[in-house]
Amino acid sequence: MGKNNHSERSKIFFDKAANTNYGNSEKLDKYILKNIVIDDKTTILDLGCGDGRFLQKLRGLNSNNILYGLDISDKMLELADSKNIKKCGFTLGDSSYLPYSEGSIDLIVCLNSFHHYSTPELTLKGIKRVLSSEGRVIIGDIFTLPIITEIINLYLPYSKSGDYKMYSKRSLDKLFNTEGFKNQKFSIISPWLFVSEYKIKKSSN
Ligand SMILES: C[S@@+](CC[C@H](N)C(=O)[O-])C[C@H]1O[C@@H](n2cnc3c(N)ncnc32)[C@H](O)[C@@H]1O
Repeated sequence: MGKNNHSERSKIFFDKAANTNYGNSEKLDKYILKNIVIDDKTTILDLGCGDGRFLQKLRGLNSNNILYGLDISDKMLELADSKNIKKCGFTLGDSSYLPYSEGSIDLIVCLNSFHHYSTPELTLKGIKRVLSSEGRVIIGDIFTLPIITEIINLYLPYSKSGDYKMYSKRSLDKLFNTEGFKNQKFSIISPWLFVSEYKIKKSSN
């Protein structure tokens, strides 16, 4: 199966799901909004931003910082655009290529989207390039016990919604470590959701 099939399937699926709440998680939003520290100068990218609902909440937290959202579904981005979020730019694109300049982003959040990325190494290379030196990445995604995660992964090649791979803490840390990141914090915030935060390792700058 071609790697790009996942992106194509994700796009088709989320174009159709754009007017539903599929994959949205208030729990994730609340946890992250409660725990992040941002100021007027914190530039934030929401990777796989969907209809922009989390960016809208971020705007409520701070009205001055620059926000970006990137998503593969144009229908999702139509909804995001219609929210008229101030100082927020949306881009249609694939997570494997991040069209932002080097070191320009301080915080990347990726909510319920990372498990769709079929070239996660490429995504992390892009993230590393666009993050500022003290930048952070927050992944919020589906949590299951590692053995169940492995079983689910056997079935994901048949997923119609373009899912690619589920991660345990161990497998996600391994992937990030290989690409030059270190884990800062890992929290299981509900029986089905985890939040994991990473920074670039100093030695690999
Ligand atoms: C479950 S939705 C979550 C949306 C949003 N993060 C939220 O929490 O409301 C997953 C999103 O990831 C996007 N997505 C999937 N694969 C992608 C890729 N390869 N590049 C960019 N976005 C992608 C989908 O289009 C969809 O909007």
